[in-house]
Amino acid sequence: MTAAPKACVIGWPARHSRSPVIHGHWLERHGLQGSYTAEDVAEDDLAAFVRGLREEPWRGCNVTVPHKVTAASLVDRLDEAAQALGAVNTIWREDGELVGGNTDGYGFLASLDEGAPGWDEDLAHAVVLGAGGAARAIVHGLSGRGARRISVVNRNAERANELASQVAGPVEVAGWGDVQALLVDADLLVNTTSLGMEGKPSLEMSISELPPRAVVSDIVYVPLETELLRTARARELRTVDGLGMLLHQAVPGFERWFGVRPQVDQELRRRVVATL
Ligand code: ATR
Repeated sequence: MTAAPKACVIGWPARHSRSPVIHGHWLERHGLQGSYTAEDVAEDDLAAFVRGLREEPWRGCNVTVPHKVTAASLVDRLDEAAQALGAVNTIWREDGELVGGNTDGYGFLASLDEGAPGWDEDLAHAVVLGAGGAARAIVHGLSGRGARRISVVNRNAERANELASQVAGPVEVAGWGDVQALLVDADLLVNTTSLGMEGKPSLEMSISELPPRAVVSDIVYVPLETELLRTARARELRTVDGLGMLLHQAVPGFERWFGVRPQVDQELRRRVVATL
């Protein structure tokens, strides 16, 4: 008898990850034999763990903080996004090779497609707050969707410049002092910083300069309703919260490992929201 397929999320620590709830829901929903667990893997054990993924019953894993960059050097091949971002969040096997992918940008785009249909029809200017790993994935994704101008606003200018030089696209860098001027013609505003997250300072900025067509997105998901989104809703702007990106980024991995493309359904949302 062959063992049931296995996948997991690896991190240090991994136990805060919501991924087991997401993949557990889909395994149940599709009546599949298989498991998805959270595995604490220390830096020194990462290479051996990734090597182990080559053997059944492993199908692959998700990778979270702090292993996303190192994991990119431990696989045989990277997909286009992981190559561009230098970071991996999903690993699977294909034709005997271990492949590293990055689905964060995909997850972000899918969440906007769902939450604000048509948002990318005429994407002249996107303003992205932050320049960390999530910002990188989002800028790469927006560039792929044809954004004609992407402004990256960050406190640390060096980090923003590094992003702009490494991610291909019409990317420019700005400081927080420039934000108001940038909002005037923005079609999309995205917060990728940790500001507004539970336990962190809130994101205090006026969005009164945004035009009425603008979509406002916050990738923070604890809490789901951030000050930024509250303010945007009060202005009757379209908003997209951070839950969609969290759920949609998981879809490609599940499909690779278990052979079924899962849906981001209401029951999944309900189950994940209950853990927030
Ligand atoms: P992730 O990989 O999830 O994107 P990260 O790499 O820690 O997370 O990035 C966090 C982002 O939030 C950065 O852009 C950071 O700005 P700096 O590069 O200037 O540090 C931003 N951030 C965090 N706290 C901030 C604060 N108090 N004010 C302004 N920006 C902040």
